[in-house]
Amino acid sequence: MKYSRASAPAKVILFGEHFVVNGSRAIATALDLPTVATAIEKASWPLEIESTPLGLRCVTGPELTCSSRELEPLLSIIRALRSRDYDVPPARLTVESDIPPSAGLGSSASASAAAAAALTALAGQDIDPEELFEVTMEGERVAHGNPSGVDPATVVYGGTIVFRRGQGVLERLQGGLSVPLVVADSGLRRSTAAPVLNVLKFLDRVGPLRVSLLGLVEQLIDLAWSAIRGNQLEDIGALMNINHGLLSAIGVSTPELEELVYAARRAGALGAKLTGAGWGGSIIAITRPGEAERVAAALTSRSSWVRVLDGGAPGTRVIKVDP
Ligand code: PMV
Repeated sequence: MKYSRASAPAKVILFGEHFVVNGSRAIATALDLPTVATAIEKASWPLEIESTPLGLRCVTGPELTCSSRELEPLLSIIRALRSRDYDVPPARLTVESDIPPSAGLGSSASASAAAAAALTALAGQDIDPEELFEVTMEGERVAHGNPSGVDPATVVYGGTIVFRRGQGVLERLQGGLSVPLVVADSGLRRSTAAPVLNVLKFLDRVGPLRVSLLGLVEQLIDLAWSAIRGNQLEDIGALMNINHGLLSAIGVSTPELEELVYAARRAGALGAKLTGAGWGGSIIAITRPGEAERVAAALTSRSSWVRVLDGGAPGTRVIKVDP
């Protein structure tokens, strides 16, 4: 039987989450933690979809319906491919990954991008990154309601990017930071849509401060991008701390995230912040060279999922098509 396999990375937002939904830029990096999607050709319908991270399975005919809402993003990327004249044949599609779901690490964008790449490869069709981004966005619209696009852009293009909603990738580095990141999941699951909506209302409520906050983030992004390019780890850390303060100020931190952030700083991290939508999910910390494992160890009493991961991973790619 013909089959294809594709992989897409996880992601973390280094700077600018939430503010990027409202018009300022964000910086994100692809993590060396992949989703692998395998599509196996079937002679006839139904199409079978299985997600191991979600522990869900669905069998559907050409009408593309699943009882589980969490699989809806994968159905919507299939619809998006079809509406762009890609021929999606009946297949068994399996999505496997160690990315914790709903944890701010881009699990849904990564699953959608890997699945779309595997399905188009199975049909013997090439999909360019621009179109793969658009298709992955369809999955994100279903998953999050009002996505800026920074997650799909990071997992599709890989590396480290500066992104602006509506304009896409403005700048890109092939790799990541010179040190790995410490990533710790608080274990609190939440939807992205709810905190995003809350921040939207919050920024409306603060009137003219909205413009000042977005302007401040724009300045932060300029400084952070130049610190990343210059490998100035202490500056990156300081700017992460400022970014975390802003995220706390707009109401997306939690006591659990604060504890992780402070534990990382106490253990010697140069900087630490929540990453992604907040109200749960994960934090990231940056350390001096050789110190990431020690900082990670200091977080294990507060998090059951702590990893030391390289940023700047490659974007979505087809690994294998057989025969
Ligand atoms: O879904 P998450 O936790 O990776 O958050 C995405 C980042 C936000 O800025 C909060 C939303 C967006 O679409 O940019």
